[in-house]
Amino acid sequence: MKDTVRGWVRDCRSLCVLSGAGVSAESGVPTFRGPQGLWKQQDPMSLATPAAFEADPREVGDWYQWRRQRIRDCAPNPGHAALAAVEAAKPDFLLVTQNVDGLHRVAGSRRVAEIHGNIWVVRCTGCGAERVERDDFAKLPPRCAACGGLLRPGVVWFGEELPPGPSGAAMEMLSRCEVLIVAGTSAVVTPASGYAAVAKRRGARVIEVNPDETPVSAICDATFRGKSGEVLPALLK
Ligand code: OAD
Repeated sequence: MKDTVRGWVRDCRSLCVLSGAGVSAESGVPTFRGPQGLWKQQDPMSLATPAAFEADPREVGDWYQWRRQRIRDCAPNPGHAALAAVEAAKPDFLLVTQNVDGLHRVAGSRRVAEIHGNIWVVRCTGCGAERVERDDFAKLPPRCAACGGLLRPGVVWFGEELPPGPSGAAMEMLSRCEVLIVAGTSAVVTPASGYAAVAKRRGARVIEVNPDETPVSAICDATFRGKSGEVLPALLK
C-alpha cells in the first residue's frame, strides 16, 4: 500500500466513496457482471425494466424474492466496516452506493446515498405507499393490503430516473470532494459510470479499488487491484 495514497485519504476533509456490487461480493451477494454474475444467467431487460414488470409481474417478483433470500443472511464484510469507520473521522463524507442490499447501513454507515434504491423497500404501483418488508411474500406478485395494487421493489430499473434525493446529494458531493474512492463497480452503468470523471475534472483525486481494470481505471490517480474487503481496511486505517 502506497503511503502517499493513504495520506490523500487520511488528510482530506471531504471524502466521497462510490461503491458497487463488488464491495458486497465477499459477503456472498452475487455481482451482476463477470463469469458468475447475475446477468450471465438472466437478461436484465427481461427482469429489471418497467416493461418486464408490466409484461410478467410474477416472474419479476419471483426473481426479486430469490435475490432477497440470497441477501437476507449475508453480513457486512471488512470493506463495509472500514467505510463505516472512516465516516466518523471525516467532517464531510458521502458514501454513494449502487448497491440495493442495505449492507452499508447494517455495517454502521449513516451518510449513504442509495442511488439505485433498496431491495427491502416495496412500493405500491397503485397508491404509491412505500414500506420496508424483510419477510418473503406468501403470494407472487405481492399486492398492496390497502388498495390491492401490485407491489414493486423499491429499486431503480433500467430506463428509470434515479431518486432525486440520493442522486442530488451525490452530484453535490462530487462537486466538492477532495478525494473519490471508486470501489467494486464495473463502471459501465450510467450515470454512476461518469461520476469519477466529474470529480476528476474539478481536481479531486480518484482512487480505484477493483481486482479488474474498468473504463475509469485510465483516469484514476491510483488503482489497487485487489478485493475491497482487503484493500479498503488497509487504505482507510
Ligand atoms: P457489476 O457486477 O457490474 O461489477 C462488479 C465489479 O466488482 C466488477 O468490476 C468486479 O471486477 C468487481 N469485483 C468483484 N469482486 C470484487 C471484490 N471482492 N472487491 C472489489 N471489487 C470486486 O456491479 P456494479 O458496477 O455495481 O443496476 O453494477 C452497476 C449496476 O448494474 C447495478 O447497480 C445494477 C446492475 O445492472 C441496476 O439493476 C439498475
